[in-house]
Amino acid sequence: MKRSKITIIGAGNVGSTTAHWVAAAELGDVIILDIPPTGTMPAGKALDLFEASPVFGFDATIIGTTDYADTANSDVVVITAGIARKPGMSRDDLLATNAKIVGSVSEQIAKTSPKAVVIVVSNPLDAMVQRVLQVTGFPREQVIGQAGVLDTARFRAFIAAELGISTEDVSAMLLGGHGDTMVPLLSCAAAGGIPVTQLLSKEKLEKIVQRTRDGGAEIVGLLKTGSAYYAPAAATAQMVEAVVKNKRRLIPCAVLCEKEYNVGGFCVGVPVILGSGGVQKIIEIPLNAEEAANFSKSVDAVKGLVETMEKLIVSQIY
Ligand code: APR
Repeated sequence: MKRSKITIIGAGNVGSTTAHWVAAAELGDVIILDIPPTGTMPAGKALDLFEASPVFGFDATIIGTTDYADTANSDVVVITAGIARKPGMSRDDLLATNAKIVGSVSEQIAKTSPKAVVIVVSNPLDAMVQRVLQVTGFPREQVIGQAGVLDTARFRAFIAAELGISTEDVSAMLLGGHGDTMVPLLSCAAAGGIPVTQLLSKEKLEKIVQRTRDGGAEIVGLLKTGSAYYAPAAATAQMVEAVVKNKRRLIPCAVLCEKEYNVGGFCVGVPVILGSGGVQKIIEIPLNAEEAANFSKSVDAVKGLVETMEKLIVSQIY
C-alpha cells in the first residue's frame, strides 16, 4: 500500500515533535523542511528520527530538506514555520513576522502540493489560516488550523486532574479564536458521558476554563525560552491521522466560516468532521446566551487581528 506523504514546514520544537509523533504512529512518509542558516539541520533531525525507527519499530521514509521540490505532491502539509512566543508576549505579537513567513511558505505549497490538505499551526493561528487561504487560493476544506484540539486537550487534562480520573474519559468541545477569548463549552464537556456540570462546582469549572484560556501563556511562563510543543504537536498529529486514515473525527478546528455561526468570512474554531480531503462538514450547534455572547467577542478579536494583518499587507511591509 502506498504511504501518505506528509510534509512538515518548520523543523523547530513544534515541527520536529510533530514529525516524531507522526512517524512513530506510522501515518506515512515524512519530509521535514526548514531554512536554517546552517542548511543541514533538517537533514540532521530527519536522520536522527529515522535512526529511532528500529527501536520503536516504525517504518517510514524520513527526509530533511531545504528544497520544496522534495515536498512535491504531499498529501498533507503542516505549517509550523515562524517565531514562537517568549514570556510577556501574546500570540498576536507574532503577527507581522509570522504573516510574512506563512505567506512565503504558502506560495511554495500552492506550487508544489496543490492537492495537499494544509494544517496550520503557526500563530496567531486564526489569522495565519486566513493568510494561507489568501495566498494559496485553496478551497476552505483544504486549509485547517490546529488550535481546538490543543485547547480541548488542555481543558480535558485539567478536568481529569480535578476529578482524579483518566484523561481518556473526558470529552470536550470549544469554539472561537485561539487566544484569550476562546470559548470552552461547559455544556459539551463530559466525564464518562456525565456532564461535568453535575460533577464539579461552578467555581471550580470557571477556574478550569480560565486556566485553559491561559494554557499557552502558562507554558511560556515556565519554559521562558519559547512556547509549548509536546501538546501542540500531539494535537497536530491527531489531525494528520484523521486526514490520512479518513477517520472522520468530530473535533474543533479553525476553518473559514461564512454563513456558519454567522461569522461572515473569518477563520475561527468550530466543530468539524475531519477526514480525507480535510473538512468534510462544519457542525452547527445551538449556543446558550452566554456562549453566544462569548463566541461573538472571540470572533471580533479574530476580525481585529485579520484587519491589522491586512493593513500590514497593504502598507507593503511585505
Ligand atoms: N520556512 C521554513 N521554516 C521557517 C521559515 C520559513 N520561511 N521561517 C522560520 N522557519 C523555521 C525556523 O527556522 C525554526 O526552525 O520555523 C522554526 C520554528 O521553530 P521554533 O522557533 O522552535 O518555534 P516552535 O516552538 O516550533 O513554534 C512554531 O508554532 O505553535 C506555534 O506559536 C508557535 O508560531 C509558532 C510556531
